Amino acid sequence: MPKHPVFACEACGQQASQWAGRCSGCGAWGEIRERAPERERRRGRSQTVVPLVDPAATDPARLPTGLSDLDRVLGGGLVPGSVLLLAGPPGIGKSTLLLQWLAAMAASGRPGLLVSGEESRAQVAARARRIEVDADAVSFAPGRDLHAVLAAARAERPAVLAVDSIQALRDPEATTQPGGVAQVRGCVDALVELAKTDDITVVVSGHVTKDGDLAGPRALEHAVDVVLTFEGDPRSGLRIVSGGKNRFGAEGETAWFEMGPAGLAPIDPAGLLCSGERHPGAAVALPLAGRRALAVEVQALVGGDDGPSRRQVTGLDLRRFQQVAAVLERSIGLPLGRSELYGAVGGGIKVDDPAGDLAVAAALASAATGQAPPEAAAFVGEIALTGQVRPAPAMEQRIAAARAAGCSVLFGPERAGPLDGLQLVTVGHISEAVGWALSPAGTVPRRRAS
Ligand code: TYD
Ligand code: MG
Repeated sequence: MPKHPVFACEACGQQASQWAGRCSGCGAWGEIRERAPERERRRGRSQTVVPLVDPAATDPARLPTGLSDLDRVLGGGLVPGSVLLLAGPPGIGKSTLLLQWLAAMAASGRPGLLVSGEESRAQVAARARRIEVDADAVSFAPGRDLHAVLAAARAERPAVLAVDSIQALRDPEATTQPGGVAQVRGCVDALVELAKTDDITVVVSGHVTKDGDLAGPRALEHAVDVVLTFEGDPRSGLRIVSGGKNRFGAEGETAWFEMGPAGLAPIDPAGLLCSGERHPGAAVALPLAGRRALAVEVQALVGGDDGPSRRQVTGLDLRRFQQVAAVLERSIGLPLGRSELYGAVGGGIKVDDPAGDLAVAAALASAATGQAPPEAAAFVGEIALTGQVRPAPAMEQRIAAARAAGCSVLFGPERAGPLDGLQLVTVGHISEAVGWALSPAGTVPRRRAS
């Protein structure tokens, strides 16, 4: 008989087959406990067993958030009694989104309760006035004491309870350290209990650090039904809310907003991230963001070769970038090996889709030769170490994004599917995608590979 783990870390949920003082998953001390179901089974208690599928049950009705892009990310709105986590770095716009969300729900007759442990009623009201949302039907309570929040929610019975933020919430009765992983997790568990027993939808904001940590090692994601990730470049106004874990819908959908003087305004990202102008060192990629694709400008810069051969990227995967540069050098003899190489994506977004490789190659070849890619061209395909270009999934969405961004030529692998008017330049090997950089009309590479 395999030995089943009968212990689990109360902070992060990691299971263990034996007790330990320190969790090997999250490093918390004194959080390993014997799992209750095992204990109960040994005591011989029985649970009520019911059929998995209740024939009388119907799919729960969804509550619209009043923000249609957010509803799409959630898979059609909020599931009543679910718990959502809105995770993002400080200053990204979590409090603003929660306020607009609750105001929009209140406007459609579903008043919510906003509890804030970070801002006073006057501060939240001032923000509502500044961004001109009608928050008259939104209730407010201080959000520092867990038990006061639970009592307020049970008395008020709001359509949605927004807790801003989970890190600001404290459980005065707990013996765990305030703000520590175990207490934050305990507060989330109490909110999950509230949601399930009182059928109140709860949305909790949580600050993540630069490394993506959320109050310790992702301790909260286990406990909630839906994780919404709020990203963007704090310097630009662009903000993206994406659906991560979702028990009730598709993952990976994205909602795009612009943070301006009037708060968060929805925007259509198609074509937003590429200027449509031709520049040496810039090429259009068509990465997937959820089920749709975006046209995004990838930029590259080839610096001098007399210093350390530095490689630096913003918004791109460094290892893929280095690999593409190496394949490019080997395949067409561009002498990149000892040069400083920089890669970037505009707008503070990340491109981690492997099919972005070909645009990275095009941007690098273009930067190295000073020859801009052909007019209105986009590039799609994953590059293998051999230089072969592999087909990319979801070509239909990518082609739609290219059309929306005003592209008319697509450098990509075969089997691209219906082209919707785009001209396809079929690329089986990386060298076939960057011929324009080396063409007689272009500048000759500065240095030839020896
Ligand atoms: P906020 O919602 O407080 O972020 P978080 O709760 O995630 O920490 O928003 C923070 C930033 O957004 C702040 O730097 C100011 C900016 N902002 C605007 O640009 N316009 C606005 O209308 C509002 C309300 C905020
Ligand atoms: Mg805030």
